[in-house]
Amino acid sequence: MKEKLVGSLKLFIFAFLVSLSTISLAQEISKDAAVIKAGEELFNGNCKACHRVKQKLVGPALAGVETRVPSIAWIKDWVRNSAKVIASGDKYANNLYNEYNKSQMTAFTSYTDDQIMSILAYVKSEADKVDAPAASQQAASGNGASESAVPTGYLDAILVGMIIILVLMLVILSLISNALKKYLNDTQLDEADRDEVNNPYTWSGFVKSPGFIFLVMFVVGAITFKTVIDGLYSIGIQQGYQPKQPIAFSHKLHAGAYEINCVYCHTGATKDKQANIPSPNICMNCHSQIKKESPEIQKIYAAIGYDAKTASYTGKQKPIEWVRIHNLPDLAYFNHSQHYNVAGIQCQTCHGPIEEMEVVKQYSLLTMGWCIDCHRKTDVNTQGNAYYDRLVQLHNAAKGSKSKMKVEDIGGLECSKCHY
Ligand code: HEC
Ligand code: HEC
Ligand code: HEC
Ligand code: HEC
Ligand code: HEC
Ligand code: HEC
Repeated sequence: MKEKLVGSLKLFIFAFLVSLSTISLAQEISKDAAVIKAGEELFNGNCKACHRVKQKLVGPALAGVETRVPSIAWIKDWVRNSAKVIASGDKYANNLYNEYNKSQMTAFTSYTDDQIMSILAYVKSEADKVDAPAASQQAASGNGASESAVPTGYLDAILVGMIIILVLMLVILSLISNALKKYLNDTQLDEADRDEVNNPYTWSGFVKSPGFIFLVMFVVGAITFKTVIDGLYSIGIQQGYQPKQPIAFSHKLHAGAYEINCVYCHTGATKDKQANIPSPNICMNCHSQIKKESPEIQKIYAAIGYDAKTASYTGKQKPIEWVRIHNLPDLAYFNHSQHYNVAGIQCQTCHGPIEEMEVVKQYSLLTMGWCIDCHRKTDVNTQGNAYYDRLVQLHNAAKGSKSKMKVEDIGGLECSKCHY
């Protein structure tokens, strides 16, 4: 009896300790929504190019890393400089590195502990989510065809219905009109009224009438005029320009399906005038491992003189000749970082849904009128930008605090801002 009591006491203490340790583990990785949100942003911006939470990509799926790596401190060291952890002889790191064909992870040297912990919090929250969307997607795909057909089917049905109703109305109206005519003809009418009733408006009379001829000539004239004017205005405008590129690079695949951030490749957009076309080195972050056998990928290797068999460089280089699509004339000045970084305008506002394009095309007009139009309409993003505090004060004093400060108000329409 006494032994049993001691046994269960031991069990109780053991269970208590276990639960205590899981609590303290859980405490390390936060469940706070704000922390998770911050982590999501960091993850999407910097890790998503190579990692998914539940799926292996260039690097391992990150779900559950905190349990398989040696320690949380290890993750912090690794993220800040994985090469250093590998060089230190760490066994886990070296095994992992070899398993991933020695592809080097980017070093995030400036990351604080909090930032790394927030990424882990995000990863954990995603990993813990039950696959609800995937499951519901599967359920939907079962009858996916009918589901996507419903809205368009509805429209068609409504259209057909409307046409049937219109025809019916015409038939009924003409029946009524005939009946009325018959009735009136049967009653006693004088000559003038009889003419009136027996429809002076015949079809051929209508077509020959001066009013109708004028209308037709007017419409034809207007269409011709508009075509000529449009033609004149579009000289030098390249909207829709979509040249074939030397490598079949797809934004739909990279920016769409794999959700690689635009500025992971177009690094200039965050700090320079030019957004920049990525150098082959950026492609090599992934393609030194992915799709090595593809002839399209071998064009990248040829460009930088890389021999995939020996993983060495031959020194023979031949730059990839991407065809430039967007091009303002030399007289105009446009700066990416001002619009993307300072103003916070999304790439897609000006370039359209690039992540859906197999081959990029010019989406916007890129005329002076297009720039000016946006500068008239768009509010300046002054939030958290001390540079604008004084200007906002001046603006509010002049126009009242109700009217938002537009780009126009900070000189966005001055010739010299956009012209050298
Ligand atoms: C350029 C691609 C790339 C990027 C970007 C990248 N990683 Fe990695 N990561 C890898 C590869 C590849 C590995 C596997 C080890 C190796 O080959 O270096 C890895 C391994 C890891 C591991 C160890 C995983 C395990 O299973 O033990 C962690 C943790 C990790 N990465 C976190 C991050 C975080 C956090 C970010 C973003 C801040 C990030 N990585 C960004 C490529 C990348
Ligand atoms: C994996 C790297 C990569 C990513 C990610 C990427 N791009 Fe590109 N982008 C390229 C390459 C390479 C080219 C040149 C070849 C081409 O036009 O397809 C290019 C071309 C472009 C061009 C046309 C440049 C010109 O010649 O005028 C635009 C605009 C553009 N990208 C916008 C975007 C936007 C917006 C995103 C994010 C939704 C994005 N890109 C994501 C690699 C990338
Ligand atoms: C962050 C990783 C990453 C980067 C950076 C990257 N790619 Fe890719 N690329 C992929 C993945 C993933 C695939 C799809 C592989 C598959 O279909 O199995 C792919 C596929 C391709 C394909 C299709 C290959 C084929 O034959 O199916 C081409 C071409 C390509 N990439 C070109 C480029 C170029 C050019 C760059 C540099 C401007 C680049 N990629 C940068 C990850 C990347
Ligand atoms: C306010 C409109 C606007 C926004 C926002 C914008 N772009 Fe552009 N982009 C342009 C214009 C205009 C050009 C032509 C510039 C020139 O010829 O000097 C251009 C050119 C480019 C080019 C080719 C030439 C170059 O500058 O290197 C690339 C690549 C590009 N944009 C990518 C991006 C990406 C990626 C983003 C988001 C990070 C972005 N753009 C956001 C208007 C915009
Ligand atoms: C989608 C809207 C949009 C389009 C399109 C656009 N801009 Fe802007 N532009 C802005 C915003 C917003 C700012 C204010 C940025 C800031 O806070 O400094 C700005 C600022 C500028 C400035 C700095 C003005 C100043 O007073 O400091 C220049 C120069 C400029 N744009 C040039 C252009 C040119 C050239 C084009 C066309 C090729 C263009 N922009 C197209 C929204 C746009
Ligand atoms: C917001 C930026 C912006 C401002 C402000 C601006 N321009 Fe322009 N301008 C442009 C752009 C961009 C082009 C090139 C358009 C194109 O290629 O169709 C251009 C083209 C021109 C051209 C050449 C037209 C042609 O057909 O080649 C003239 C002339 C011109 N601008 C004069 C002016 C004058 C004068 C002002 C001041 C009243 C002014 N611009 C203000 C952006 C601007």
